[in-house]
Amino acid sequence: MENFEGFFAAQRTEEAIFTRQSLGSMSDADFKRLAFFVKKKYGLDLFGKKSMVESRLYHYVIDRGFSSFEDYFRTVYDSENSDEMPNIINRLTTNYTYFLREQEHFKHFMTKFLPQAQSEKGREELRIWSAGCSFGNEAYSFAACMEEFFSERKTTIADRRILATDISRDALIAAKKGMYSKDAVKCLPEEWVEKYFTVTGGFYTVNERLRSQVVFRCHNLMDRISFKKKFDLIICRNVMIYFDKKTKSDLIKRFYDATVDGGYLYIGHAEAMPEELPYVREAAAVYRKEVSAK
Ligand SMILES: C[S@@+](CC[C@H](N)C(=O)[O-])C[C@H]1O[C@@H](n2cnc3c(N)ncnc32)[C@H](O)[C@@H]1O
Repeated sequence: MENFEGFFAAQRTEEAIFTRQSLGSMSDADFKRLAFFVKKKYGLDLFGKKSMVESRLYHYVIDRGFSSFEDYFRTVYDSENSDEMPNIINRLTTNYTYFLREQEHFKHFMTKFLPQAQSEKGREELRIWSAGCSFGNEAYSFAACMEEFFSERKTTIADRRILATDISRDALIAAKKGMYSKDAVKCLPEEWVEKYFTVTGGFYTVNERLRSQVVFRCHNLMDRISFKKKFDLIICRNVMIYFDKKTKSDLIKRFYDATVDGGYLYIGHAEAMPEELPYVREAAAVYRKEVSAK
């Protein structure tokens, strides 16, 4: 029995190697077309990254049963309602994230942003947007901070919500599930893990206390921002690194229009901002829409 298993496994490997070899490489024309399309529609700059694109799509194209990139792309572009583009985007973007990433923002959030909001007489709501939320770690981290802050204070701000968006459907499915490995929650203080997660089968699932504050939606940052209300804080970290200058400054203008006067924008610490900015820089990777704009 074991021998048969071994034989079939070897045969499957050979088949895989054969298919892999027969897929061939992506033509320059196919790559260019994809790069232009993805740049226009999603803002992602793939130019000069052909081998990265090829290697990230290779196994996927084989798994979908195609024998060449050419055949695959023909199907992608021929079908008007093709669902394929989001699948391609899922494979080309990096969803790397972790809880409490870039600590300085959480410090600013707890010692400046929240105290300021709390000091505003009669304020009833707080609107936060985690734009490019990946697997949800960012949104849940800020939700946990809000819980910590408000559970110790009497407040009029009863309506506190974090909108968390991404273009990657796979990431959003995982984010909504809110289920993380033991390793992933290691970045959090132990008492937070106890307070905000339930453990089943070795996995840690975000509990209702945090979940109720976060709403996940699919949103392409290249699209018009048409959420009903403006935001007190927009968090867009480690997303704009994929965008070129123009895409980035257009997006920042849209963020600015979607920010309340006196509201904030957090960007990734490693990200360069365009020289001309509507926001005022308050600290490293922290920007503010002037209060005088009121
Ligand atoms: C590296 S992750 C950053 C996650 C989180 N913000 C953090 O800093 O840990 C970048 C995320 O941006 C998303 N993204 C890239 N381009 C996007 C676009 N055009 N619209 C919306 N999300 C996008 C990716 O799908 C990915 O989940």
